[in-house]
Amino acid sequence: MKTQLINTAMILGVLTMALSCSGKNETTPIPIPLPSTEQPVKQPAPHPEPIVTTNASNDPGFKLIEGADCLACHKIDSKLIGPSYQDVASKYTKADIKRLAQKIIEGGKGNWGDIPMTPHEGLSKDDAQQMVKYILSLKK
Ligand code: HEC
Repeated sequence: MKTQLINTAMILGVLTMALSCSGKNETTPIPIPLPSTEQPVKQPAPHPEPIVTTNASNDPGFKLIEGADCLACHKIDSKLIGPSYQDVASKYTKADIKRLAQKIIEGGKGNWGDIPMTPHEGLSKDDAQQMVKYILSLKK
């Protein structure tokens, strides 16, 4: 009986010591890491994955659209700020190419709602028409 009590006391003592030790550890200064031996970490060459939205992503019209700000407001298959390009394609025909190209350059609203499309004055007529041709090719 008596030895058991002593043992318990000893265990308790060890425990308190362990606890106070870990308490002390908090004040131990964090060792400053040695200056690393200059070894340049080789970064793998970046491989930007092209965004493939349709298999027509090689289309020159799509390339122009991708390079401009259009995709901030338009998606191929769902409405964003502007109508989806598939919706645009089903509303118009080749006869509208010139008018739509002009609209992209000048901007405007009214055909799809009250949100206006921003003008793209820097865009050439040829480029704008190329974009429209691609958009119309999305007709389902
Ligand atoms: C700031 C957002 C925004 C950007 C950027 C934008 N559009 Fe639009 N776009 C719209 C909105 C909104 C409409 C709907 C206008 C309307 O109701 O007549 C629209 C309409 C269109 C239409 C249909 C026009 C019509 O009269 O039916 C085409 C085609 C189009 N956009 C192509 C483009 C192309 C190509 C670009 C890039 C050069 C572009 N958009 C950039 C918002 C945008």
